[in-house]
Amino acid sequence: MPDFSRPPGPKIIAVANQKGGVGKTTTAINLAAALVENGKRVLVVDLDPQGNASTGLGVEAADRDLTTYELLVDDAPLADVVRETETPGLLIVPATVDLSSADIELVSNEKRSFLLHDALRQTAIDGFALDYVLIDCPPSLSLLTVNAMVAAHSVLVPLQSEFFALEGLSQLMLTIREVRQSANSELRIEGVVLTMYDRRNNLSQQVEQDARDNLGDLVFKAMIPRNVRVSEAPSFAMPVLSYDTNSQGAMAYRELALELIEKHGQLAA
Ligand SMILES: Nc1ncnc2c1ncn2[C@@H]1O[C@H](COP(=O)(O)OP(=O)(O)O)[C@@H](O)[C@H]1O
Ligand SMILES: [Mg+2]
Repeated sequence: MPDFSRPPGPKIIAVANQKGGVGKTTTAINLAAALVENGKRVLVVDLDPQGNASTGLGVEAADRDLTTYELLVDDAPLADVVRETETPGLLIVPATVDLSSADIELVSNEKRSFLLHDALRQTAIDGFALDYVLIDCPPSLSLLTVNAMVAAHSVLVPLQSEFFALEGLSQLMLTIREVRQSANSELRIEGVVLTMYDRRNNLSQQVEQDARDNLGDLVFKAMIPRNVRVSEAPSFAMPVLSYDTNSQGAMAYRELALELIEKHGQLAA
């Protein structure tokens, strides 16, 4: 039963693909920033022991005492681990390499797949008045990614526009199906977003065609171009929307955010 005494709560989206380097973290950071530009309040949960989302949003490694690890493994209250970033309305739970041992430490915990789910449903989350939570998943289908899928309403899949891009999708879809059958029957696929797209490159166009032929409306119209400004922004600890607001990459993430908001029927009239 939903608890009608509480606000409806944020849309929780897992940004997942078991391949590394496909644009998960870049998408989590910049989609979050673009949603914030549209007046949304967004929390990024860094669920990757590499902590790239934390670095990219300006939380230095030395400054991460309370992290996703404490949230999941030590039951730390959500209010203690959520941090503000330089972008007002954009919050983060940072991660460190500590998170890499969570898989093993949690083996005997009966609730091991539900830890993030339970953490994000604490009443304390109401106080942040969030519209979205974006979970930046690690490049694997490990317990951490399962936690994200159990916690989420939907999965957003960045797909790098390169050869074999679609090959890994069947494994991902299988995991989504397993999570639906075991722990989260409502889990949807939010969509697939093509990343590092190069419209002058035949291969990019072919991957796009394949994706649209096979996945239809699941593929977002917005595509993220390969853009050097996108890759430079994290070393300046900010989203590309702040680093170079008129860059192609920033524009593309704004289009993606609008499509997402429209899907959720929240566009201001
Ligand atoms: N649209 C883009 N244009 C140029 N470089 C990109 C783009 N998207 C991601 N990158 C770069 O590609 C690398 C992998 O991206 P990342 O988001 O970290 O992938 P993942 O989180 O899936 O491992 C990073 O160095 C990132 O800066
Ligand atoms: Mg990443």
